Amino acid sequence: MIAPQTKLFFEKLHVIVLQKELIKLTLTNKREKSFDLNKIIITAVELKKGYCLNFVYRHSTKDITKNCEIEEGFEIIQKLLTNEFFNAEIYGNHENLSYVVLPNGKIQIKTAAPSLQKVNSFTHDKIKDRLIDSKENIYLRELGVTNDKWEVRHEMSDKYKQINKYIELLSPEIKELSLKDQFHVVDMGSGKGYLTFALYDYLSQQTKNDVQMTGVEYRDDLVMICNKIAQQSDFKNLKFIKGSIAETSLGKIDLLIALHACDTATDDAIYRGIQSNAEMIVCAPCCHKQIRKSFNVSNELAAVMKFGILKERQAEIITDSIRAMLMEAYGYKTKVFEFISSEHTPKNVMIVGRKTQKTNPNKQVILDNVAAIKKTFGIEKHYLESLLGV
Ligand SMILES: C[S@@+](CC[C@H](N)C(=O)[O-])C[C@H]1O[C@@H](n2cnc3c(N)ncnc32)[C@H](O)[C@@H]1O
Repeated sequence: MIAPQTKLFFEKLHVIVLQKELIKLTLTNKREKSFDLNKIIITAVELKKGYCLNFVYRHSTKDITKNCEIEEGFEIIQKLLTNEFFNAEIYGNHENLSYVVLPNGKIQIKTAAPSLQKVNSFTHDKIKDRLIDSKENIYLRELGVTNDKWEVRHEMSDKYKQINKYIELLSPEIKELSLKDQFHVVDMGSGKGYLTFALYDYLSQQTKNDVQMTGVEYRDDLVMICNKIAQQSDFKNLKFIKGSIAETSLGKIDLLIALHACDTATDDAIYRGIQSNAEMIVCAPCCHKQIRKSFNVSNELAAVMKFGILKERQAEIITDSIRAMLMEAYGYKTKVFEFISSEHTPKNVMIVGRKTQKTNPNKQVILDNVAAIKKTFGIEKHYLESLLGV
């Protein structure tokens, strides 16, 4: 059974690594003093096979270096912390985080101001500045992101950065999946399609995957424009369908995306992903009205609820926590993190779930936890629960 502090530490580490904020992670204070391995220094590197962790095992007279993929790296770190070292220290761009196993066996986690400056952590094989190139990308020009000279328009530079950040974040996640031929990606509530086009571009043109992609969108005008741009770009396996997230007939979904789909549309999307046994579900929730309206707090938390902004934040936290928990209950290993700085958009939380097991043996425990949270906040039902029939 993993200690809650350990879980928290690894969740933080996950976010820091995925957001490319890790300067280094050190493992020190060896458990067995006679061992020759004194310290391990871990950095993130971009290699041909993708974003990886680089381990330097520092012995008394030699260093041994190994690279491994992110998830495998986390497992190794977890084992090293259990068996070999007492201390870990994350040096991040924005904060440091220390993990210490105390003499009584308890775990202490502390945060501190950053103490190192990032020079360039990707020394192995420097990544292209941007994964989505502005040059000769017809869809970027047609969507107004670039001009006729393929330069990013000044007023669209934030959007261009957001598109790239999104691909940077998703690419290591997608590399973890076993992409079969005709892998079907569905983007629910695709809107103007900025991110749909970018992901299709990345998967089909850059990583040469045999991908089928469908954008689902209520608005006819957007569907028409996006289909036209897909044709102009010669993106043969990308299509946009007018319809609702809940009801559009889509066939098997392998990767489900729902970015800023409004309120319970995010739940409809997650439900479709779970129903289809999608390998991965990625969503960035938008407004959280359903839970906000359902709060009926009669305990000490009522004092929090009287402040509008705090009630709003509480609604976000409760809505998205329950979403993440329900995804876990249905066999998705789930992460929640900030995917873009809040200066660009306050709606910057991303939930990513990867299907790792058919059913979670702890499903009932998770559902009981959900019930306890709802009881605390006087909530009758989370919309996703109603869809799942739990
Ligand atoms: C805020 S926009 C986000 C667009 C895009 N996903 C992005 O992040 O850039 C949300 C889009 O989802 C569409 N939408 C919301 N609810 C929907 C539903 N239930 N079915 C289909 N489309 C929906 C809206 O029409 C809108 O275009």
